Amino acid sequence: MKQMRNVFRRAGVLAAVVGAAALLLPAGGALAQQGKLKVGLMLPYTGTFAALGTSITNAFKLAVEENGGKIAGREIEYFTVDDESDPAKAPENANKLIKRDQVDVLVGTVHSGVALAMAKVARDTNTLLIIPNAGADDITGPLCASNIFRTSFSNSQFGIAMGKVMAEQKKKTAVTLTWKYAAGDESVGGFKETFEAGGGKVIKELSLPFPQVEFQSYLTEIASLKPDVVYVFFAGGGAVKFVKDYAAAGLPKTIPLVGAGFLTDGTLEAQGEAAQGLLTTLHYGDGLNNPKNNAFRAAFVKAYKVEPDVYAVQGYDAAQLLIAGMNAVKGDTTKRAELVKAMETAKLDSPRGPLALNKGHNPIHDIYLRKVEGKENKVIGVAVKNLTDPPRGCKL
Ligand code: PHB
Repeated sequence: MKQMRNVFRRAGVLAAVVGAAALLLPAGGALAQQGKLKVGLMLPYTGTFAALGTSITNAFKLAVEENGGKIAGREIEYFTVDDESDPAKAPENANKLIKRDQVDVLVGTVHSGVALAMAKVARDTNTLLIIPNAGADDITGPLCASNIFRTSFSNSQFGIAMGKVMAEQKKKTAVTLTWKYAAGDESVGGFKETFEAGGGKVIKELSLPFPQVEFQSYLTEIASLKPDVVYVFFAGGGAVKFVKDYAAAGLPKTIPLVGAGFLTDGTLEAQGEAAQGLLTTLHYGDGLNNPKNNAFRAAFVKAYKVEPDVYAVQGYDAAQLLIAGMNAVKGDTTKRAELVKAMETAKLDSPRGPLALNKGHNPIHDIYLRKVEGKENKVIGVAVKNLTDPPRGCKL
């Protein structure tokens, strides 16, 4: 009898505890939304784009810290994969984060070939994907999807801007050089389109496989072709080496070198004298004097003891976009339609200036003309105001 009483008493206590806990918890599905928000960072942390991946990661985390270390009240759990800028490993890497780690959102990456594979996995699994760099035009064109967003750019944007500027400067002939993959092809394609529409002629399109950096034979060919200007797409470690090799070959004195701004972004410390005076086009410049950029740069330097670059801006904006979406649904990722709507209509205060997205979820932003002065990519003009992509077959 005593034993029975004890059982009942224990059961009663248990019921009371469960009942009290139930009162403290919101109903039904909202329970899961109280847990940590799982963020998968799939970025390059080794290879020629290693510094770019690190910069994006640091700035993403900075934006979250500035938001109180949480997003819409939820703590963050990061899952990180080094994608090595290797498209062949991309499906497996993305699936690790989605299927094994069950991330709520995937953030990545730098390399267009890897991003194209990520976008396919994201579409197939309906995972929310935010791209903080890779510019593959198709991702926000024919392959656009409601769950895929980009806070960086599309590859052709900077070529389009620089082709226009070079035609306006009355350059008649150009040679292009790039790594042979989506990013380089599209960057050069944009340049060719507007340079030739403005009366210039691309007399030779040179390329080498990613991420090779044996530039000597290409420099010899450029010297013999003697174009009015050379337009290139290189980034990260490859950009550092190319700019130094171009200077060492004595070419800048006779054949001006221009490029998409990645040529001189995050690289000036290493390029030093060789980069001085180079003109590039990009959606960001170090000295942009707006309150957000000034605050962002100060906070980044304080946190990481290095100056931020364009990759940091894009990583920061990826977090800002996620925060805007999550706030609208009070952290409930199951409200996908509302989340997407809020991200689509977000007006972000980016260090680059005001940032909005077009129908394909790609940024609409000013493209600046920049000139390297010392350790700075100084903005010397706006090459194209409010550049947005043509529809390119996006059905959203
Ligand atoms: C790309 O592959 O899309 C890419 C990589 C590095 C950059 C820019 C674009 O700096």
